[in-house]
Amino acid sequence: MTRFGAVTIVQFEHRPGILDLGWGHPLPSLLPLGAWSGAGAETLETYGWQALTYGHPTGPAPLIDWLCAHVGDATPGQTFVTAGASHGLALLTQLLTGPGDVVLVDSPTYHLAFQILTDHGVRLVPAPADEDGLRPAETAALARSLGAVFLYLVPTFGNPTGRSLPLERRRELVSLGVPIVEDDTYRELYYGDGAPPALWHLANGHGVVRLGSFAKTVAPGLRLGWINAAPSLIDRLARLGYVHSGGGVNHSTAMTMATFGTSGAYERHVARLRDRYREHRDALTGALGVPAPDGGWFVWLRLPAGLDAEALLPRAERHGTSFVPGPAFYAGRGGGSDHVRLSFSHLAPADLIEAAGRLRAALPAE
Ligand SMILES: Cc1ncc(COP(=O)(O)O)c(C=O)c1O
Repeated sequence: MTRFGAVTIVQFEHRPGILDLGWGHPLPSLLPLGAWSGAGAETLETYGWQALTYGHPTGPAPLIDWLCAHVGDATPGQTFVTAGASHGLALLTQLLTGPGDVVLVDSPTYHLAFQILTDHGVRLVPAPADEDGLRPAETAALARSLGAVFLYLVPTFGNPTGRSLPLERRRELVSLGVPIVEDDTYRELYYGDGAPPALWHLANGHGVVRLGSFAKTVAPGLRLGWINAAPSLIDRLARLGYVHSGGGVNHSTAMTMATFGTSGAYERHVARLRDRYREHRDALTGALGVPAPDGGWFVWLRLPAGLDAEALLPRAERHGTSFVPGPAFYAGRGGGSDHVRLSFSHLAPADLIEAAGRLRAALPAE
C-alpha cells in the first residue's frame, strides 16, 4: 500500500499473516475502475461546467430521474441525494431527534449505526427480536411506552445476520404506526430470486424513511446514496444550512453516477457482482458447512456451546484469521457472545476457504 507521509489512502489495510473476515468491504478487483472512468469522462463531455459547479439542493435531476425509474417506487419529490447511508442516517437524526430522545434499534443490527445515532445524544434501546428478527407487536408497544422517535433496522439481507425480516412481519410492522428508518443498503445484492419488498414500498411511503447507498453496488469511496421520504421531510433536508451554503451533496460524483446508471453500466456491474459474490458466499458457507444467506455480505455464525466470541478472537488471530464478535451488534452489548460476524465480500473464494480452515482450527477440539 502506498504511504503518503504519516497517513495512508484507505480505511483498512490487511495485517500481515491475517485473512480478515471482519471487514465488510468490497474485493478491490470488483470495483468498476474502467466503467467509472468512462462515465466520468462522458459526464464532463455531456454536461460541461454543470457537472463541476454547486448542485441542486436535493440532488441533480439526471441522477434523481434515473434513480426513481430504477427503484420504481419513489418520486423525485420523495428523493434526496446523500453522501451514503451513514450520512442519510446522520441527517435524519440531526433533523428528527434531540439529546436524550429514544431511538429503537433492531437487535442485532449494523453496529456502526450506533455511534451515528449517539453522536447526536440519542439514547438507544434494543427492539425485541427473536431468531426470525424483529417482533413487530412488542416493538410497537415499546416504542409507544418510551415515546421513541423512530426505529432503525436493516430488514433486507441484514448486517450482521444476512437474514431478511419475514414478509408477514414486514406487513405487521408497517401497519403498527411506528416511525421507521429502513436501511436498505444490501437490497440489490441478492443471490437467489430477488429481495423481499421494502418496508418503504409496503407502507407506500407513509411512516417509513428509506436509506439507499451506492457503497456496496458501485464503490464505497463514492460516498453516495439517497433518502426516500415524505416530500415535507425532503423539503426540510433541502433547506438545511449546509445544503443552502454548499448546494446538493456530492454533486460531481452524483452526476457521474447518473451517467453510470443511464448508460446501463450500473445494471451490468451489479449483475456481475451478484455472480461473483454468490461464489464468495458459497466458498465460505461451504467450507464452514453452514446455511447460505440469500443476499448481502455476511454470515452470522453461531459458535459451539460454551464458546465466547470475544475470547475466541485472539485465538483466531493467532491462527491467522479474524472476525467481528457478536456483542458489537447489540446496543448496550446485551447479547451476541455466542455469535461472530464473518464477511465474505473482501476476500477471494480461495482465501475465504483458507480463512474458514483457520477459524475451524482455532475452535477447541470437540
Ligand atoms: C447496514 C449498513 N448501512 C450502512 C452502511 C454504510 O453505508 P455508506 O457507506 O453508504 O455510508 C453499511 C456498510 O457497512 C451497512 O452495512
